[in-house]
Formats: sequence, C-alpha cells, structure tokens
Amino acid sequence: MNIGNISFPEYPVFLAPMEDVTDIGFRLLCKQMGADLVYSEFVSSDALIRGVNRSFEKLAVCDDERPVAIQIYGRFVEAMRDAAQIVVEQARPDILDINFGCPVKRVAGKGAGAGMLQNIPLMLEITRAVVDAVPGTPVTVKTRLGWDQEHRIITTLAEQLQDCGIEALTIHGRTRSQMYTGEADWTLIGEVKRNPRIRIPIIGNGDITSPERARECFDRYGVDAVMVGRATFGRPWIFREIKEHLRSEKQEVRGERNGAQTQEADVSSHPSPLTSHLQEGLTPEWKLSILKQQVLTSVERLDEYRGILHSRRHLAASPLFKGIPNFRETRIRMLRAETVKELFEILDDISPIVHCKL
Ligand SMILES: Cc1cc2nc3c(=O)[nH]c(=O)nc-3n(C[C@H](O)[C@H](O)[C@H](O)COP(=O)(O)O)c2cc1C
Repeated sequence: MNIGNISFPEYPVFLAPMEDVTDIGFRLLCKQMGADLVYSEFVSSDALIRGVNRSFEKLAVCDDERPVAIQIYGRFVEAMRDAAQIVVEQARPDILDINFGCPVKRVAGKGAGAGMLQNIPLMLEITRAVVDAVPGTPVTVKTRLGWDQEHRIITTLAEQLQDCGIEALTIHGRTRSQMYTGEADWTLIGEVKRNPRIRIPIIGNGDITSPERARECFDRYGVDAVMVGRATFGRPWIFREIKEHLRSEKQEVRGERNGAQTQEADVSSHPSPLTSHLQEGLTPEWKLSILKQQVLTSVERLDEYRGILHSRRHLAASPLFKGIPNFRETRIRMLRAETVKELFEILDDISPIVHCKL
C-alpha cells in the first residue's frame, strides 16, 4: 500500500492523532513499537496563522519518527490553505492530514472538524484548496460516517473527497452524534473499500483493542491499514502485539499451504529467533520499563510535575495493572505521585506483583 510516494509494509498499523497524547515523545515510542505511521495532535489552522506558540510547538517532528503525518483543522478556506503551507514549510511532514472528524463542541459546534459533515460543499472546497496549496506533499483526510444515524453519507463523501485529490481516507466508524459512545460500525468502512470507484487507500479506525480485532478488520473489511487510538494508552506495545500476531498468522497460513510437514508450518509452535525475541520482549518487566521510559520522556520534554501529569492517563489505563488483587490503594498512590522518585518507588513495588499476575 502506498500513500503518495510512501510505501508501507503489508498490514500497516497506524497511531491515531490524539490531542494531548500524540506528542513527539509518544509518537517516537509508538514508532519504536512498530507503528507504521504516526499522526500529530490536531493543530488549529487559525492558531497557526496567528503565530500561537503552543501550536507551532506541535509542529516539531524528528527524522526517527518518519513517516509522520501532521493534522490540521479549521473552517475557513484561506486559513486552512495558509496553515497547510506553514506546516509544510516548518515541519516537512510526510503527509498532511485534514481533520473532518472531531466531534467536540468547541470544534464541531463552530463548524470545523466533524461540523464540516453538515457543510459538504465547504468541506470539499477546503480539501481542494489544501491539496493545491502543498504540491509534493500527500494530503489525506480523517472523518466519520456522517453527522448522525440518518445522515451516514460516507460512501458518497469518500468519492467526492477522492475527486478533490486526497491520497488516502481514514474513516472512524462512528457518526458525530455518537461522539465516542456505542460501538464503531465497520460495515460502512468495508462498503467504501469495496466501491470499485475508490482507488485511494482506506484506513479503518474505531475500537481496535486487540491483535485479533486488527486481523479481523483487515480480513472482513479489506481495509488497507488500521489505525489505533485509545488502546495505546498505557499499552504502546500494542503495535508489536498486532504485528507479531499478523506475522505469525501469515506464517501459519503459508505453512498450511506448503503442507504440514514443512518447516514453516512449525513456526507457531517453535518461534523463529525473531519471533522468540519479540515474545521475550513482551514480559511484564519489560512493559513496566517501557512505561517508566515514557514517564521520563514526558518529564524531560515538559517538567517533572507536568510530565507526570501527562503520563497519568497512560498509567490509569494500562492493562499491566488490571486484575492485580487489592490494587486500589496502590493505584491511588500511583496516580497521585508528584515526583519521579515517588512514582518509580511505587512502580518498583508493583513490579514483583505484576510479574506474579501473568
Ligand atoms: C484523547 C483523544 C484525543 C483525540 N484527538 C484527536 C485529534 O486530535 N484528531 C483526530 O483526528 N482524532 C482525535 N481523536 C480521535 C481518535 O483519533 C480516534 O479516531 C478515536 O479515538 C477512535 O479510535 P479508537 O477507538 O482506536 O480510540 C482523539 C481521541 C481521543 C480519545
């Protein structure tokens, strides 16, 4: 699968853009864990034009995380066009993504993000203007199924966006009205992908929480790539888990095709050095060390207090601490810690318990 000139391996897995989450530190970590493409937090086009510092900080990228996509949002054609040029000049992203999916009131309520699903002509005008403004940089769009259950317009919209010159489309399988409730509906994503008029890659998004679900989304809906968001909280290694699962299944299938007697057919029961290395890597101790590394990276980038605050979402959500008996009090202490020393002492105390649990 290609987006512009960028080639991706089979079964690409992307890190979703997430405000206050996908900063440069987290993107790099997810990249190391196997993400094939990482997205920035969304950046306001209006703020870029006004030269707001905080928005310019979001444009910081480094070569180790490439390919990287920077995402912008806004509701004015000129502002989006100018912001696109600023982003390309400042950050030289591999991909420029437009957000037409954010459901929150302060964005969608003003007509930007998913609000644009109520004004398709303007959405298309903005898309065309951005594509024209940054020749040489592939422009992609991320959106939802439609505004609400009665207006699930994505099948037609996908064709219209493709005709504007975008090079890939990400679809989150919910409507704006659903916000983040209910289950993501992948059937329409599959329908878009099966439309013979659609030539651009379709990236499916919504509720991928396990390697098995990622596999199912590739198989049942035929998407070109999957995008993972919330399941990365406290679990950046999910990319490795998904990659490992897809790789082992592929080897099994190949083995079956070659006959049960061949060596390849034995791969799942006798891991190759590569797969055994990966499995070795995924121990609870290793996972804990990754979370600690994540805390230190945030602290380095921000400061001790804000870095720890920034990491709490991940510590609170991490599956590493799920199911530990009588964990409530330790969890509260973990989430209240204000210094690295205090936090790491708690994590070190948890370490043997985490190890026993699994
Ligand atoms: C905290 C948070 C921040 C988000 N910020 C953005 C954003 O900046 N841009 C965007 O396109 N989507 C954003 N999203 C939506 C995600 O990219 C993704 O579409 C959504 O979470 C569904 O995928 P998931 O079920 O894998 O989490 C955000 C979601 C969350 C939970």
